[in-house]
Amino acid sequence: MKRTHTCGDLRKSDEGKTILLNGWVYRKRDHGGISFINLRDRYGITQVVVDSDSPKELSDLALELKMEYCIAVEGYVRLRPDSMINTDMSTGEVEVVAKKILVLSKSEVLPFMIDEQQKDGTPVIPNEDLRLKYRYLDLRSAPMQHNIALRHKVALAARKYLSANGFYEIETPTFIKSTPEGARDYLVPSRLYPGQFYALPQSPQLYKQILMVSCFDRYFQIARCYRDEDARGDRQPEFTQIDLEMSFVSRDDVLSMTEGMMGSIFKEALNVELPDHFQRISYDDSIEWYGSDKPELRFDMKMQEGSFLAEIGSFQAFKDALSAGGAVKALVVPGAAEKYSRKLIEELEAAAKIYKAKGLGWMKVGEAGLEGGISKFFEGKTADVCNKLGAKKGDLLLFVADAKRKTACASLGAVRSKLGKDLNLCNPDEFAFAWIVDFPMFEWNEEENKWDTAHHMFTMPQEKYHATLESDPGSVKGDLYDLVLNGYELASGSIRIHDPVLQKRIFSIVGFDEAQAEKKFGFLTEAFKYGAPPHGGIAPGLDRLVMLMCKQTSIKEVIAFPKNSFAQSPMDECPSEVDEQQLRELRISFTK
Ligand code: AMO
Repeated sequence: MKRTHTCGDLRKSDEGKTILLNGWVYRKRDHGGISFINLRDRYGITQVVVDSDSPKELSDLALELKMEYCIAVEGYVRLRPDSMINTDMSTGEVEVVAKKILVLSKSEVLPFMIDEQQKDGTPVIPNEDLRLKYRYLDLRSAPMQHNIALRHKVALAARKYLSANGFYEIETPTFIKSTPEGARDYLVPSRLYPGQFYALPQSPQLYKQILMVSCFDRYFQIARCYRDEDARGDRQPEFTQIDLEMSFVSRDDVLSMTEGMMGSIFKEALNVELPDHFQRISYDDSIEWYGSDKPELRFDMKMQEGSFLAEIGSFQAFKDALSAGGAVKALVVPGAAEKYSRKLIEELEAAAKIYKAKGLGWMKVGEAGLEGGISKFFEGKTADVCNKLGAKKGDLLLFVADAKRKTACASLGAVRSKLGKDLNLCNPDEFAFAWIVDFPMFEWNEEENKWDTAHHMFTMPQEKYHATLESDPGSVKGDLYDLVLNGYELASGSIRIHDPVLQKRIFSIVGFDEAQAEKKFGFLTEAFKYGAPPHGGIAPGLDRLVMLMCKQTSIKEVIAFPKNSFAQSPMDECPSEVDEQQLRELRISFTK
């Protein structure tokens, strides 16, 4: 009873053929002696009919079939009457008249119904832990089948594009030395060397750089990465990167290779044409305009400088922010004055406060000029304010003032993001890519009172800052870049340092003394002594890319077996305790 066709194959032209299908019972209806079975596999759904004049044995068996039984059906293809054609199914013009049915495997009563819908067609989504516990059933659902298929196409398109451009796919180890890379490492204890640990790689960063020293000048890997960090919708403890590295390149070479790869992936997997090049926005502009280094660009609505308001009005909070060296940021929301009641504005203010804003100032441009909120501090200044901000009647004006410019930008940026969602400003079919470039090289760590690198320690500072690295670290821009898509950071990369002397200077700025640097990264600096080529690379997150291509907001929707929000897998119940014996071998014991 092996299949001759899949459940997605049969068409009008197959009329009369004797065929054999294998699949799962998706839906079933029994009507006065006739049974209709929708048989499903990876490729589609075919309607199977057990006619009323079938032998009793067959009719009885059809009645016994339950949801998700795995069966084989032998029969012939018949055209459906015109009134019964189902245009929603690729096989909807035909049905299979069953002559023989074999149950290959029964199914227990399901913990949830697959692809259940309410009467109006909206999907019924089971509880997440239930989905993950019975992931094999969840994966049978139409959306998961679609997402996993798309993921395959994306990975394949990336491999094809990179191979065609001379990249070798090279695997790097997943048991590596623990090196500081940003997040917390997952550690694996060594049995042979008690007290010593391997780390699972947060990314193949150091290995790919060493591969450049080994003259594999174009490397890529669909690489598994592991990071022990707090859960978020777009994060998993283990995830996958399309990791690549190139020698003898400048920033523009890496960016255009990535643009080509994205173009090829979107064309092959979604048949969507992307522009040849993505816009570039400097980090500083991105913060000033959108309050974020991963801006949502499907709508414009840039934030503006509002510091002039401190001078022309009498609102003390604006004046205080400015005299403390901070800023006032302004946002004009076109046509939103009427819609935004005081209550809705309070909701916007709550979004601003998450980013430490003290409050959200607002005014509306009404018939008679500025009104509501803080307008009383700007009497007679309607024309000034509107001209400067490009505002018109019916617009809502929003402001955040803060002694820290970054706080003002980030909190009004959060308001901008919320408005984008509330006002449906984003076209769900659009993919708005941009490069964010010219990131600061160092960030001040307030807790530890020291400089940290903003990306990782191997990023090249832009050449014009080489002379002033130590004297003014805060102004140094790195040769690093992020690719953003629809408000998410999709990829990060940089041109790397290949000069051991420059590398030592960076270590020392972030407070790594020579002995420490030697202990943590000695193997890399040692490798760089033997003719390291100039090089750079990037790593788009595969899961995040597929998530956005599937128009999902949770990365779990595109991973076959993800962890839940508590880093557990409800299906195999990991993490789990291990045997005493295993612990003894590893010489591990626990303190309470
Ligand atoms: P970075 O740490 O920015 O850079 O990661 C690159 C991309 O990987 C994805 N990503 C994640 N996806 C899911 N879950 C996570 N926890 C997670 N963390 C990161 C994102 C991100 O943009 N070695 C450097 C790259 C380089 O410089 O070449 C790196 O790993 O899409």
